[in-house]
Parts: sequence; structure tokens; C-alpha cells
Amino acid sequence: MTALRTFDVACTLGLETVLEDELKALGAGNLRPRRGGVVCEGDLALGYRACLWLRSAVRVLERLAVFDVDVEQDLYDRVAAMEWEALLGPDDTLAVEATVRGSVHASPQFAALRVKDAICDRFRERTGRRPSVDREAPLLPLHLRLVKGRATLGRDLAGESLHRRGYRPIQVKSPLNEATAAGILLLGGYDGTGFMLDPMCGSATLLIEAAWIATDRAPGLDRRFAFTAWPDFDEPAWREIVGEALERLRPTTEARFVGVDIHGGALTIANKSIEAAGVDHLLEVGRGDIDTWRPDAPPDWLFTNPPWGERLTGDVERSWGALAELLRECPGVRAHVLSGSPELSGRLRLKADRRWPVRSGQIDSRLLRYLIHERDEQGAVSR
Ligand SMILES: C[S@@+](CC[C@H](N)C(=O)[O-])C[C@H]1O[C@@H](n2cnc3c(N)ncnc32)[C@H](O)[C@@H]1O
Repeated sequence: MTALRTFDVACTLGLETVLEDELKALGAGNLRPRRGGVVCEGDLALGYRACLWLRSAVRVLERLAVFDVDVEQDLYDRVAAMEWEALLGPDDTLAVEATVRGSVHASPQFAALRVKDAICDRFRERTGRRPSVDREAPLLPLHLRLVKGRATLGRDLAGESLHRRGYRPIQVKSPLNEATAAGILLLGGYDGTGFMLDPMCGSATLLIEAAWIATDRAPGLDRRFAFTAWPDFDEPAWREIVGEALERLRPTTEARFVGVDIHGGALTIANKSIEAAGVDHLLEVGRGDIDTWRPDAPPDWLFTNPPWGERLTGDVERSWGALAELLRECPGVRAHVLSGSPELSGRLRLKADRRWPVRSGQIDSRLLRYLIHERDEQGAVSR
């Protein structure tokens, strides 16, 4: 348990600094940010904590091997020489995912196949039996990264993306996943206090994640992770880690969370998610058009991702205009708008004091911060 391991933790592009801070808070050492993630060191318990607590991460890999692949056969040989018997048995299941760039292996699928073959052949030679492939729920989910002849092979502690918290009734098509939503809140400095508004809340992801931050709820508390079925699973250590998280969880908070949306269908999903996330006593969401809807008090925080699309429709433009008006009427608010369209955010006619690039879905977006002043005779201005 105490042996030092290397973890490669992945996040959405743009959230690396947030992830680094989160890992630091968990006690990770030797942190090295990379594009779309952070590499760090710690014991196995750090890996468990990372799965349970990281809000902005999507995957926690424990590195098993790093080696050079000069010719195609190197990959097979190096993998076949590893001591797989410590990690799975011949009757267990595995799955291999690969990302390949600038390598002798033409495709990720082929590289993944070679890793799988090397492991299975090793078992067959030694025991006459071999593990089988299960893409849905393998005992051992492996990930190979092969970049410019350098291979990094790791096991995926969670087994499924960490953004799948388990509260969404269906995976909605919204590009803002749960981990990105939480990461955006942390990037904007959200501290779990005061009045938070999302005036275009959709399925309420930002509000749910905000409520979980405010109540210090570990985002992985209701999940089952792949590592709990591994031969080296340290159950007492995991129980202690979960026990601490349950103790930290606050049933309620002084903070307030309000959301509105024009679309009834989105609110149906929002309400189901809110209930499943156990925050229905904290969140107030309802139907409204921000053209006319106004909060009953000025919010301290506003986080939202308004609609944008490849084609700009009149409705989308009208909504951005309405958002601009609403922002002007919220003096003192720290407003954060995730925008995938500079043309639309330009329509706010407010000057952002900070902009962070964040990749949301397949879109290069910006998180824009507007600090709104008190209204004066000239009208509101951003601070
Ligand atoms: C990109 S989605 C937000 C997704 C959301 N963050 C989530 O977690 O699902 C934009 C939302 O803005 C809503 N919307 C658009 N115009 C609006 C308006 N004038 N007033 C209120 N909501 C509006 C849409 O119905 C849609 O749900």
C-alpha cells in the first residue's frame, strides 16, 4: 500500500491547473502537469482518494510500465515479459484501449490488440487458459499511450470515466459533462458560499456540482470502481477513505442554488438528476425565460453555458441578448459564461476581465469572467 506509484490523471483540456490543485490537496507528490492531465506520485491510497474525490478528472491511470518501441515486435515482447499474474487470473477479463501518435504501429486498434495478445499468450503458455476480453466491464481495464516510440501502459482505477457520477438519468447530448462543469466552477474560484445562479441551467449540471462542492460531497461516493475487484485491493484502506468522506459530507449548507431554463424537457432531466444527486433540498429550479425572469436577490455567483451552435438562430441570439441584460441587472455578481462562439459572447457587450480556454466536447471554448459593477447613471459596466 505504501509503495510509491506513478499516476497519470486526465482531465478536459484547460483544466490542468485545477486538477493540479485538487491533486495537491489530496497529498500527491512530484506533480507534473501535461496537456490534458497531470502526472504525480503517491501510494495506492492516493489512487483510491483520487477516484473518490477528484471533481475535474476523467481518468486515473496507475502506470505499470514505460518502455521504448522501436520496432513493432517490441510492444508485444515488452508486454509479454511483464508479471501479469499479480494483476489478474486466467479466468478474469480485460480490455485494452490505446492512443497512438507517431509510432510504428499504424492504428490504436492494432496496438491494443498486440497488448491483449501478449497478455493472453503469456497466460496460455503458463496455464493453458487465458483471460477473455470484456469491453463493457472488464476486471482489468488497461490503457496504452504510444507516442513517438515511447509506450506508457497503465491500469484504469475507475474503469469508467469519472465524469459519470451516476446522477444523470440519461447521458444528455450537452457537451458539458459533470467533470468539466465542476472544473469550470473551480477554475472560476467558486468556494461553495453565497447565492449561485445558472439562468440557462439545462439539466442543472453546474448547480448540482456546485451543491456538491458546497456540501463537501465526494463526487465518487455512490460509485463502484474497477480497483475494488483487483487482487491487490486494500479493502480496509478503502473503507477508511470512504468513512472519512461520509464524515465530511455536510447534509446542508447556507449556500443557495437557483436555476431556470426555458425548456421543459431539460428541466425534467434536471429534476431527476437533482433528486438522484441528493440535493433536491438545496436546489430551486423552474421554468423561465431570462428575457423577463429575474432572481429575487442579486446573486453572488453566476455560472452558465448558454446555447451556441454551428448555425446561429434568431432564438440563440435573442437569448444572449437577454443574458446581457440580466448580467447588467446583477450588481456585484461574479459571472462566468462558457462560450464556444466569440461572435455570440461579443453580443454581451461586456468586457471580460479573465478568459480561460477550455475544451468542451469537441469545441474550443472560453470561460469568460465578468465582474459586474453597481449600476450608475451611465448604465452598468463590468469591473
Ligand atoms: C447548452 S444548454 C445548457 C446545458 C446545461 N449546462 C446542462 O448542464 O445541461 C443551454 C440551455 O439554455 C436554455 N435557454 C436558451 N435560451 C433561454 C432563455 N431565453 N431563457 C432561459 N433558458 C434558455 C436552453 O433551453 C438550454 O437548456
